Amino acid sequence: MKRLSGKVLIVDDSKSTTGAISRILEQDYIIKTAASGEKAIEINQKYDPDVILLDVALPGIDGYEVCRRIRSENNSRFKKIIMISVRTMLNHRLEGYASGADDYLVKPFEPEELLAKVRVFLRLRHTEKELYNLNRELDRQVNLRTRQLLEAEKMAVIGRYTAGIVHNLNNPLQAIMGNAELLSFRHPGDSSVMALRRASAQMKKIIGTILSAGYKNNSSEYSDVDLNEVLREQTELLRANPFYRRYPIRLITEFRPLPLIRGIYFHFSQSIGNLIKNAVEAMYNSDTRELRIESAFRDNAVIISISDTGPGIREEEIEKIFHPFFTTKPLSAEDKSPTGTGLGLASAKEMIEAYRGSIRVVSEPGKGSEFIVTLPVQDS
Ligand SMILES: Nc1ncnc2c1ncn2[C@@H]1O[C@H](COP(=O)(O)OP(=O)(O)OP(=O)(O)O)[C@@H](O)[C@H]1O
Ligand SMILES: [Mg+2]
Repeated sequence: MKRLSGKVLIVDDSKSTTGAISRILEQDYIIKTAASGEKAIEINQKYDPDVILLDVALPGIDGYEVCRRIRSENNSRFKKIIMISVRTMLNHRLEGYASGADDYLVKPFEPEELLAKVRVFLRLRHTEKELYNLNRELDRQVNLRTRQLLEAEKMAVIGRYTAGIVHNLNNPLQAIMGNAELLSFRHPGDSSVMALRRASAQMKKIIGTILSAGYKNNSSEYSDVDLNEVLREQTELLRANPFYRRYPIRLITEFRPLPLIRGIYFHFSQSIGNLIKNAVEAMYNSDTRELRIESAFRDNAVIISISDTGPGIREEEIEKIFHPFFTTKPLSAEDKSPTGTGLGLASAKEMIEAYRGSIRVVSEPGKGSEFIVTLPVQDS
């Protein structure tokens, strides 16, 4: 059987004993020795041995106390302590176990027995550690998966409600529009009434866009999607974006021919729409406002790049912005600054990754950000 190498600390005040034990073990293990309990504790901290062979009768603090102190250290979880003593009485052995020892060896012993014990305990230590790491990894994965499932469910609920809510806005809007028209007959040329009519007509258009996009979007049918069409539609929809309307943004587009990608249209329109929305919102306070949207086909993948001249994102925040509910925007704002829920990027990432794609961010604080979506094209 293959031997596991390991670090062994031998604690005994008799030089001849540590010497004898060292000779038994030194072929297979890395050995350190200590002649007192104090020294043993010190070496344990620095050297972090896997197995400690600990004599009970030591000058100063005895073996039991050394064992207790070592067990109270943070690094002692997988450490194996074998106590060695001339005392054969049951109560001595029991005291050894009570102070945290894993085994008790009575002097004198056969070298083979010592070798066998060290080997067994090293193997045990190795297995326990592996099991512990596996368990931790399993815990991590279960937690991650649970969070993802909760998120996906939350997103689905939000999606279902949005269409309903927007639809319900139609009725009161009809009333506003009807009454605004009535007012315009009563007060022809009144600028407030005209503003009211313009605003409500605009609102109707936006609701119409959302509902028709929602119609296409509610379909969970697979089709061959032209991502340039998604980009064109999303740039069209920018007109309904209040920030795009309020602050002049220079829009530069460069759409190169793309192969079709099989998928659900909504996944692409929603995720790319979120990236464009973020870019526009990021620039609301900028001096230069330039939105660049590009598409290309490279290395068997569709690449979509959306860059802005906003404030950029700090290196340490780049990972966080994809976490659900991470946002730097208020939920609602008195002034006209952008608001947010922090779900935009989390849902975009989820949808793109479902197609084995990725979203990468390149950002220079103070200059702007670029979000790059890569979608592999499957060979069929
Ligand atoms: N283009 C960008 N430039 C600078 N910061 C950005 C950009 N895109 C995203 N961020 C940062 O990432 C955060 C998270 O974005 P995300 O789209 O997930 O949520 P949000 O935009 O805050 O809210 P919403 O749920 O309405 O999209 C933003 O609050 C913002 O701080
Ligand atoms: Mg957003």
